Amino acid sequence: MIYLDNAATSFPKPEPVYQALDRFARTSLANPGRSGHRMAVRSDRMLDDGRHALNQFFRGEDPDRWIFTLNCTDALNIAIKGSVNPGDHVITSDLEHNSISRPLRALEKAGVISLTRIASEQGYIDPDAVRKALTPKTKLVALTHTSNVLGTIQPIEAIAPIVREADALLLVDAAQSAGVVPIDLRATPIDLLAFPGHKSLYGPTGTGALYVGPRANLRPWREGGTGGDSASETQPVQLPFVLEGGTPNVLGVAGLVAGIAWVSEQKPDVLRNHEVSLLQRVVDWAEATEGWKVAGRWDAARHAGALSLIVPEGFHPLDLGLALDSAFEIAIRPGLHCAPYIHKALGTFPDGTVRISPGPFNTPEHIETLLHALTDITAGVL
Ligand code: ALA
Repeated sequence: MIYLDNAATSFPKPEPVYQALDRFARTSLANPGRSGHRMAVRSDRMLDDGRHALNQFFRGEDPDRWIFTLNCTDALNIAIKGSVNPGDHVITSDLEHNSISRPLRALEKAGVISLTRIASEQGYIDPDAVRKALTPKTKLVALTHTSNVLGTIQPIEAIAPIVREADALLLVDAAQSAGVVPIDLRATPIDLLAFPGHKSLYGPTGTGALYVGPRANLRPWREGGTGGDSASETQPVQLPFVLEGGTPNVLGVAGLVAGIAWVSEQKPDVLRNHEVSLLQRVVDWAEATEGWKVAGRWDAARHAGALSLIVPEGFHPLDLGLALDSAFEIAIRPGLHCAPYIHKALGTFPDGTVRISPGPFNTPEHIETLLHALTDITAGVL
């Protein structure tokens, strides 16, 4: 299989991740912090290692501000539903994945919040558009760092001070950027940072995290056992336990810790440059090939490893995806990518695009095979 669907989840994982999962599962997979025996202590230490690794990687304020979640959607829901109150105004954009769009739209439909959805321009949010949308009632600005459809990196460093000045909270969805686009929480005033562990941080599925900055005071939506403080009738109020009821995915965290170590060694910029250089070939091909078009504005300096192609007339992205899989053993993601608003803005709704998202283990030969396959399919050679 030539796997070019790393924006959905990365595959393969680096070898140390497989080794860490296997080692931890065989030696230390007890319930962390629950029982006091040595295996439970080792397991708890892994969660602590994970919080320290995240805090160091993203330069957060304190390891205890990192909440382990099921995935990025879980982290975003905890952040959104834990922070807004009736009457609040929220700003978002048309680039968002349904993991932001749906909870916000549900709150808007229920009459809890008012919502402004900023229109991006060719895949990029203008910081001035955020400034103009702010009102005295704006509580939360929820934006993606990198579009999962287009791969365009948003100017979060310019947006964050604008939001902070307005005294609103900034929630950043780093699903496609964590691990490939540097994020420095000490340099950029982000209040809430959500991301999956299983994409460019190379942990397994079922992992994710939320950073809760000092200005964010989130209500928990889930309450339950936290290991300690069992006599208390209500959820402990301190982080991370206030937001982490129930047995955490400590095995996943063991894989994530190994993934973060691997990314730190490789360097996010190097990983991004590799993916962008593979995509540059696709862009050059699409520009030279009749019928194909790159969605959004291609700017290699502001791009991560995903690219959407608008397919030639008469072809359907889903059919192309199926043909790539069945006849060529190539994995891509066709369709709407759980992000309908940007497809509406691009004019690619409801069929969508063909999204190509290489990873660190893809080679230029993989891309040539993909381009030959697309040429053959659309020429009717199949
Ligand atoms: N959010 C993931 C994607 O963009 C699943 O494919």
